[in-house]
Amino acid sequence: MVDSAAQVDLEKIVSLCKRRGFVFQSSEIYGGLSSSWDFGPLGVEMVRNLKDSWWRTMVWSRNDMVGLDAAVLMHPDAWRASGHVDSFSDPLVECRDCHRRYREDHLDGPRCPTCNGELSEPRQFNMMFKTFMGPVEEQASEVYLRPETAQGIFVNFNNVVTATRKRLPFGIAQIGKAFRNEITTGNFIFRNREFEMLEIEYFVKPGDDEKVHQQWMDDCIAWYTDLGIERDRLRLRPHEDDELSHYAKATYDIEYRYPWGWGEIMGIANRTDFDLKAHSDASGQALSYFDPESNEHIVPYVIEPSAGIGRAVMTFLIDAYTEEEAPTAAGKTETRVLLKLHPTLAPVKVAVLPLSRNEKLAPLAQRVFETVQQSGRINGYVQFDDTQSIGRRYRRQDEVGTPLCVTVDFDSLDDDAVTIRDRDTMDQDRVSIDSLVDELTQRLEQAR
Ligand code: GAP
Repeated sequence: MVDSAAQVDLEKIVSLCKRRGFVFQSSEIYGGLSSSWDFGPLGVEMVRNLKDSWWRTMVWSRNDMVGLDAAVLMHPDAWRASGHVDSFSDPLVECRDCHRRYREDHLDGPRCPTCNGELSEPRQFNMMFKTFMGPVEEQASEVYLRPETAQGIFVNFNNVVTATRKRLPFGIAQIGKAFRNEITTGNFIFRNREFEMLEIEYFVKPGDDEKVHQQWMDDCIAWYTDLGIERDRLRLRPHEDDELSHYAKATYDIEYRYPWGWGEIMGIANRTDFDLKAHSDASGQALSYFDPESNEHIVPYVIEPSAGIGRAVMTFLIDAYTEEEAPTAAGKTETRVLLKLHPTLAPVKVAVLPLSRNEKLAPLAQRVFETVQQSGRINGYVQFDDTQSIGRRYRRQDEVGTPLCVTVDFDSLDDDAVTIRDRDTMDQDRVSIDSLVDELTQRLEQAR
């Protein structure tokens, strides 16, 4: 799936992620668990920033959205009603010689890609993880780990309408983990068995669905481009009939141009009234909306923007990864690696760097750091670093995408001023310590 040139790029990202604490392999000391990954100290900051940005844009900036946080474990009947027990499956084939298993629709040819052996007929493999609730391991206590957060929203439809008195159209957003026993995983954090999702179920009057579907596609693309992805690296791809999920009337994927080709970052589906009707039928509780204009109960249609967080993090990292030639202090050039991450996503917003560990400089540097960190205005992680040479520290911050570095030098002792260094231009500006927080805030805000 990944060609060799692209592999190099991905390997650089994987290596940077491990070295600098974005992503670690799960249970690495035991040899790792395939397709499970842990977010490290910087990864966790980036994930938080990404979720905050999405929530701010999709929920807080609008008047038609509310949030929900449903449990991972749901009544198993919910998964029967939603169609996941019968239909949430992929075609599995097995090599008759080496017994490796593959997802049939991910294969390029009719034979085993590892040993060229003959493949079995495909059978449908259900991707839901099963476990047992309570101390007895019997069929009656079987439950599923949710493969999407959406069903937690649908089964709460009446609760939310009653609690919030929202009128159509309105949406419910949720961020949470999902689990899929994928047949094939890979490409780092692109396809895993455990991942976190950003989901919206947006309820509309039937008939308004196609217009609103288009609007959500535009809004989602705008979220990625506002966070720095060039529009021409994104495209919308409609699902073919044979790709559509069992619940969807139409789905568009937003795809990103990865080094190895176009790939899905998120999907925006028109789920019609499939889910609300299915849960109404199965539970005997009518999930519907009383329309005060027509004095009728209607079952809304649903438009669903749905994105994986790991996939978004990986996409923003790949997009931001830059290598360029830069001059060294010794008058030579070297390759500078930097992540041109949007400041909203950058795991470290500001790094405070004393020029040296000199005992006269240290207390002032500490004071500057505390002033910035405790100001409460930076909206993210502020780091202090006094190890190694200043040049190496700049490079370290560039490599993790820190937009601004503040350098405290010997002149600072006399002029009560420090230097702000910009990650992308490497320009350095002298500003007074008194105005430092204003200046940093302004620069970080300006980039939004
Ligand atoms: N509720 C709709 C839904 O689940 P989906 O297309 O199956 O739709 C939505 O998943 C998004 O979730 C995908 O576009 C992708 O970003 C992410 N995703 C799906 N499966 C994933 C996996 N195994 N690993 C990581 N992310 C995944």
